[in-house]
Amino acid sequence: MRAWLLDDLTGIGGLRLADVPDPVPREGEVILEVHYAALNPADRYLADRQYPAKPSLPHILGRDGMGTVMQLGAGVTDLKIGDRRAILRGDVGGDRPGAFAQRVAVPAKSLVEIPSDWTEQEAAGAALVYLTAYQALTMWGPLPPNSVVLVTGASGGVGVAAVHLASAMGYSVVALSRSPEKSLRLRQIGAALTFDPGQPDWRQAAKAALAPRRVDLAIDNVGGKLLPEVIDTLGNLGKVSIVGRLAGPVPNFNTATLFFRRIRLGGVAAGACTNSESREAWREVLALLSRSGARPQVDRVFPFEELPQAFEHLAQGPMGKVLLKVV
Ligand SMILES: NC(=O)c1ccc[n+]([C@@H]2O[C@H](COP(=O)([O-])OP(=O)(O)OC[C@H]3O[C@@H](n4cnc5c(N)ncnc54)[C@H](OP(=O)(O)O)[C@@H]3O)[C@@H](O)[C@H]2O)c1
Repeated sequence: MRAWLLDDLTGIGGLRLADVPDPVPREGEVILEVHYAALNPADRYLADRQYPAKPSLPHILGRDGMGTVMQLGAGVTDLKIGDRRAILRGDVGGDRPGAFAQRVAVPAKSLVEIPSDWTEQEAAGAALVYLTAYQALTMWGPLPPNSVVLVTGASGGVGVAAVHLASAMGYSVVALSRSPEKSLRLRQIGAALTFDPGQPDWRQAAKAALAPRRVDLAIDNVGGKLLPEVIDTLGNLGKVSIVGRLAGPVPNFNTATLFFRRIRLGGVAAGACTNSESREAWREVLALLSRSGARPQVDRVFPFEELPQAFEHLAQGPMGKVLLKVV
């Protein structure tokens, strides 16, 4: 089969397309012929040695994808050849070979059915980002009705998922994006308000638009100097679910900003969930999306041979998920 190989952990610049032996299913695994795989910033972090996974090399990246079951390993009784399935979050593309290949071995328990009204492209990149957004929204317990949820990096994979789910939960969504076009799109998919975090007065504008309310929960995909600004928009007992750090380390952070409003910060780790916790969360995600009618947002699909170009596009800031058409 053809696969994108990573020979060492010195960055995705070293990715190369090669012929490799087909994977062989172990007990409890199946071989999936990959139709579409989805890119995530975590692929780049892993290639840059900034991720906890320690795969054997050469490694195949790709944590998300969907395809057709081609072969069953011993003990697999709940799947049959020809079934179409999507990969639920797990070790695929982390500690074990991933979906940037024509075939991938996946534990049967890490596969989920594709909702009948979703396209293959919509299904390919949904699992990781919706499970992450769901954890970010629910980790503090139920929020009061009509709470205000602010999402940074709202146009990205996790951001769009957070906007969809927060809207479906009945919260008022404030979305941050540096792009006017993507801000318009975010309002179309459920954001009540959008602001450009590059504008020096975005916080004042957000506070004025929300008054007398403040932000109850922020979901932060960006970090960097934006995090202290986001904390400034929170009300009493405000919370921040820390998801990512695309803008790098947080500078000059004064913890006194947390005291008087009793603000809480907490880390999100979609990867820390057990398989049954992920499945339960996935059921909740599908119920919310089915109720609201929202569907995963596909930004752009690249041919299999153009994975490096797809990563360049992702780094520019997508609107939803960037996919690879594999087989
Ligand atoms: N903790 C977890 O379990 C978990 C799970 C999944 C992902 N993550 C992390 O969460 C973050 C977001 O993931 P994603 O898949 O949503 O990423 P993504 O699809 O690449 O999108 C991120 C969005 O953030 C904005 N952005 C990018 N770089 C920025 C910068 N330097 N400053 C300000 N805004 C920037 C862009 O929006 P605009 O261009 O519209 O501004 C972009 O569309 C990543 O760091 C990822 O590794 C964590």
